[in-house]
Amino acid sequence: MQIKKVVVAGGGVLGSQIAFQAAYCGFDVTIWLRSEGSIGRTRPKLDNVYKEYLKAVEDMASGQGPWCRGIADEGAPIDKAACVAAIEKAHASVQLELDLQKAVADADIVVESMAENVPDKIAFYQKLAPLLPEKTILVTNSSTLLPSTFAKYTGRPEKYLSLHFANYIWRNNTAEVMGQPKTSQESFADVVRFAGEIRMVALPVYKEKNGYLLNSMLVPFLFSGLDLYANGVSDPESIDKAWKLGTGAPRGPFEIFDVVGITTAYNIALQYQKVPGFFSPLLKKMMMPYNFKGMLALLKKMLDEGKLGRSSGEGFYKY
Ligand SMILES: NC(=O)c1ccc[n+]([C@@H]2O[C@H](COP(=O)([O-])OP(=O)(O)OC[C@H]3O[C@@H](n4cnc5c(N)ncnc54)[C@H](O)[C@@H]3O)[C@@H](O)[C@H]2O)c1
Repeated sequence: MQIKKVVVAGGGVLGSQIAFQAAYCGFDVTIWLRSEGSIGRTRPKLDNVYKEYLKAVEDMASGQGPWCRGIADEGAPIDKAACVAAIEKAHASVQLELDLQKAVADADIVVESMAENVPDKIAFYQKLAPLLPEKTILVTNSSTLLPSTFAKYTGRPEKYLSLHFANYIWRNNTAEVMGQPKTSQESFADVVRFAGEIRMVALPVYKEKNGYLLNSMLVPFLFSGLDLYANGVSDPESIDKAWKLGTGAPRGPFEIFDVVGITTAYNIALQYQKVPGFFSPLLKKMMMPYNFKGMLALLKKMLDEGKLGRSSGEGFYKY
């Protein structure tokens, strides 16, 4: 199916970025929001994303910043005027709508990017199901929940799957595409193609998996490092060195923690300890129980001391 009209449900951090990116790539985009208050919160987010895109183009053109593959192809000189024109057009064109029926009336795809809350997502899908045209594909941007949890509430399990973006979508342009048992191959292929059309690198995930591809590797890696520290096995600097010198990787777990920020690390630790079985394969292999209590206490102490990572000048390291 040719996707033209995109509806994003939820205008938070990721919803505003997904909407802007799709509009930047020429799609007709509407964000559905539940209240007037949400409009007041989403507009400034879109304005901020707009400024980030303009800055990214400036930085790429002057060779000052990282290349943003969501904005322009790497390897060729950037066409600054064309990029700026597309950014201006995207900023002017994203529509905000409170009436769900009106928002989705002719939607080819609805991207659900609401807060990570199971009952709220179920209630939304139940409200949405009778309003959607038959053709509409429905995807969730959920980071930690599986689409099979929700498929039965959507009224279209064959057209329902996950399309998971990364924060700073214009720079970190991956899109993990993950079906559930009832997703049709056709919808999966349509979503992979759509991801490419909005300048994402589509990464197919053939089996449902908490954490998709990246977080299935990154989260256990980071927390294995933290666990070594929390259990008194070694210190952050030595653990980072073991990883970097042993593998040639540019950063160790504590350097990554400091970039991501301790607040996010703490929230991820809280979130992932609730994801059933997330750490278990690793635990069995290592035969050592994770010291989650110790890790959380350590992160909480750092938060209380204002050691938030690079952003505050100190995390596991001083900057
Ligand atoms: N933040 C990230 O880095 C990131 C990355 C990838 C995926 N995600 C996923 O994207 C989704 C949204 O995350 P976010 O970071 O943008 O969150 P956010 O808190 O910034 O935004 C959530 C949005 O959902 C809306 N919302 C909440 N409850 C609602 C309800 N009951 N009905 C209608 N709207 C409701 C809020 O008004 C807000 O616009 C989550 O599923 C999250 O797992 C987040």
